[in-house]
Amino acid sequence: MAGRIPQAFLDEIVARADIVEIIGARVPLKKSGREFKANCPFHNEKSPSFWVSPEKQFYHCFGCGAHGTVIGFLMQYEKMDFIDAVADLAQRAGLELPKEAQGPRDAGSVDLHDVTAKAARFFEQNLADNPRARAYLETRGIDAKTRANFALGYAPDSWDALLTRFGTQDDERRRLFQVGLIIERDTRGGERAAGFYDRFRDRLMFPIRDSRGRVIAFGGRVIDKGEPKYLNSPETPLFHKGRELYGLYEARQAHTDFKRLMIVEGYMDVVRLHQAGITYAVATLGTATTQEHLNKIFRITSELVFCFDGDRAGRQAAWRALDNALPLARDGRELKFLFLPEGHDPDTLVALEGREAFEARLKSALPLSEYLVQQLKLDLDLDSVDGRAKLKALAAPLFARMPDGIYRELLADRLAAEIRMPAVKLKEYLFAGDPKRPAPAPAEPGTPRRSRNSAGRGNLLSQAITLVLHHPAAARSVTDIEALGSVDRPGVSVLKELLEQAAGMAQPSTGMLLERWRERAEYARLTELAMSDPMVADAVGTAKELQMAVQKLLEEYGPGRRTDDLLRKAEELGLNYDEKAELTLLLKAKGRPRAPS
Ligand code: CTP
Ligand code: MN
Repeated sequence: MAGRIPQAFLDEIVARADIVEIIGARVPLKKSGREFKANCPFHNEKSPSFWVSPEKQFYHCFGCGAHGTVIGFLMQYEKMDFIDAVADLAQRAGLELPKEAQGPRDAGSVDLHDVTAKAARFFEQNLADNPRARAYLETRGIDAKTRANFALGYAPDSWDALLTRFGTQDDERRRLFQVGLIIERDTRGGERAAGFYDRFRDRLMFPIRDSRGRVIAFGGRVIDKGEPKYLNSPETPLFHKGRELYGLYEARQAHTDFKRLMIVEGYMDVVRLHQAGITYAVATLGTATTQEHLNKIFRITSELVFCFDGDRAGRQAAWRALDNALPLARDGRELKFLFLPEGHDPDTLVALEGREAFEARLKSALPLSEYLVQQLKLDLDLDSVDGRAKLKALAAPLFARMPDGIYRELLADRLAAEIRMPAVKLKEYLFAGDPKRPAPAPAEPGTPRRSRNSAGRGNLLSQAITLVLHHPAAARSVTDIEALGSVDRPGVSVLKELLEQAAGMAQPSTGMLLERWRERAEYARLTELAMSDPMVADAVGTAKELQMAVQKLLEEYGPGRRTDDLLRKAEELGLNYDEKAELTLLLKAKGRPRAPS
């Protein structure tokens, strides 16, 4: 979605907005040096740990970890979605939202939304008219109010009910096809005439809505028995299932304040829970929870409960969810796992025991840390040295996926106690070779981290990245950005891209740079670096250090270094076929024509 708004426009918005003014209008800010501080609006506190930096166009709370740009603030504070926040700021700056950002947000998709909206109304009407479908809903305990709230419907038992209703013209058929409501006939057998047929037939229909309430896709359940039990719209220009959460729109409608969100597995679970008053339930759409889902959720709330059925499939899904959630686990966020009794799902359980009893279970939900350690310990004998070594080995890759910070440190402490090993030693092992180390020391509450000696902090690469993030203007004085393209090290491409972006901006700021990465996997890590010690305080010093860091990266890992390594290996061990080819190329580039054989 952000991709649809021209980058230059986003830069302009962040550059023109005054973050102090925008936050100051909502939170009483006090000037403190070059920054402003306040009691954090995102958690309860008595002394201020919420800082706003006009220079960086960035805010950050040292208490709860909330942070972001002016766009992020509006999203977090006003619960706006990304486009709405951009639209708000554009209006304030007197800028017209580009065409791409209007509607959803190009002319074509307006038509497509029109098609899904019409289909949803058609299905709703059919449900009202069909006693069998209505009776089924009744057996599932869904009342009329909930039915209307979720706009539930029924797709008639016909190959072409939708098609004949809305698809008589070619362009209408094309749009029905584009949103996945009709399927093209397979004509290879030559028996049937070419054409289309309805995807959803004789199914209870769940319209899936985006955060603005527009229908973008459907899920359909068989009325009695049949295969597959659920059928979903395919990926379409309107619908990317790795991004959407069923029930989120309805949850937003019901709530202004999200204490938490709860992810359940099915459509029926969401509908039934909402009916019982648990309106913070949402579901992924037949997929595991993605990072995109999680980012979306953590923009709304800091507490997420994964709710799983008590069976084997549920436990497997939980471990997958944990794996996906690890990169986003950090201080100030609560991730919990709730397991229901065997044989139940949220739908059946809440029908059986009601809201209060169901919500009481939330108290026994396992925090991520607890669940992780518990699972790691399973089948291991921690009294044996061997068992403890295994646990360590199992844990290492998991820790490698977590952002560094207090949360990860505490989890490592916890694990150390579990395997009866000194925490320092375990961390040495877990974080070995980890570019994220050493982690910055936790700040005193209420004091922003300040310049310290830069020597020995972090590795070269994250140092360089931190420097660009803190003083993006310095990127312009780096002469070898291009050359970084030849460095084969994870993360260098991130540095290169950051340098290019910063060098290309008229008035670069930390916030503006971070906005470019909002939807990418590196975003969390980059914002953390942006909040860490600036190391060097002024722009001139930064330019020098940055240039030096890039030089060092090139010396240490650039093509020359690789050549030396390969030559040494050729002498000592011999090269395999690929390595020989690589060396030949490298030597050629240097004007030395032949690799040793
Ligand atoms: N699902 C799917 N495709 C299937 C089966 C399931 O996409 N063939 C997804 C649906 O989102 C469904 C969820 O997985 O809601 C959970 O499926 P399941 O546990 O099989 O069903 P329930 O949600 O319990 O459905 P019901 O109570 O209606 O039987
Ligand atoms: Mn069910």
